[in-house]
Amino acid sequence: MSNEDTNNPPKRVFIKVWDPVVRIGHWMMVFAFFSLYFKSSKFPLHVYAAYIIMVVMSFRIIWGFIGPRAARFWTFVYSPKTMIKYGIDSVVGHPMHTISHNPLGGAMVFALIITMLVTGTLGLMLYSSGQEMGPLGDMVPSEWEDEFTTLALFGHSFTLGLKDMHIFCGNVAASLVTCHLLGNFWATAVHKSNHVVGMITGIKDANADDPELKYYKESAAPRFARNLNDSVGPVLGEIILVAGILICIIWPLAELFAWANKFIPSF
Ligand code: HEM
Ligand code: HEM
Repeated sequence: MSNEDTNNPPKRVFIKVWDPVVRIGHWMMVFAFFSLYFKSSKFPLHVYAAYIIMVVMSFRIIWGFIGPRAARFWTFVYSPKTMIKYGIDSVVGHPMHTISHNPLGGAMVFALIITMLVTGTLGLMLYSSGQEMGPLGDMVPSEWEDEFTTLALFGHSFTLGLKDMHIFCGNVAASLVTCHLLGNFWATAVHKSNHVVGMITGIKDANADDPELKYYKESAAPRFARNLNDSVGPVLGEIILVAGILICIIWPLAELFAWANKFIPSF
């Protein structure tokens, strides 16, 4: 990893960074998240989409220990000091360039994994307490739906049910996804390196003097990334690409999933 110098930018090379497990898992989660969030009142669609996210996230935790180098957690765990420095440098200086996730992106990956799994677990408990459905059956007491815990704040006590907690966490998850998306655009602008193209093709660019380079396979630059950069620049190119993916692929699929909802048996 090395610092970037805008007066004399280091030569860039293209390498294979994200393996197919990370990429396929990621796009399955994008599809599942958008379906469950924007069609949140459709059941059992909500539940099945959430199961997809929970399975992918759980598998991602195992992959973080046994997967290829860029997927392993230790390649993107940084101290809070490094995260703050990276954040400041990305606004006013020259932030370090990393092959796997950058220090803030890495923290976001952990936040997304934890929030999705906590929200999903609360959802499983809610489904069991409210409707006696899902893998927990009737294990969770029905009164927990509206009265799970009591919080004392500023001399007042508030009763929270599983429903309140699940909906709150679900909305926190959605806010994190929005920050994740904006963070990707920001990183693309700062490093002039297409992050979304990386998550599609697996190929990202790196500084030619990066000592980590020896662990990765060199590759040709993805042609459509070059065309995007040459025509509209990396950031606008990525915004158009993401809008295209969401509008032309994810949205019609989510609508189809929502239509098929009436034929899907509940569990
Ligand atoms: C993994 C991520 C999950 C997210 C992000 C999420 C998000 C949400 C959100 C935002 C709502 C509120 C919808 C509204 O206001 O109309 C909601 C409602 C609900 N979710 Fe989830 N959910 C997840 C997983 C699950 C799971 C695994 C289950 C059950 C197995 C579940 C069961 C429910 C139920 C029963 C409601 C309706 C609550 C009510 O009565 O209003 N959720 N979820
Ligand atoms: C259209 C929406 C989205 C886009 C364009 C997007 C894009 C990306 C990109 C470019 C990366 C790689 C970042 C890097 O190069 O360091 C990434 C990583 C990641 N994203 Fe997203 N993302 C989206 C939505 C989501 C959603 C909805 C979730 C969770 C439900 C999510 C979870 C993750 C996770 C866990 C990673 C880490 C990948 C790994 O190391 O396995 N993303 N995303």
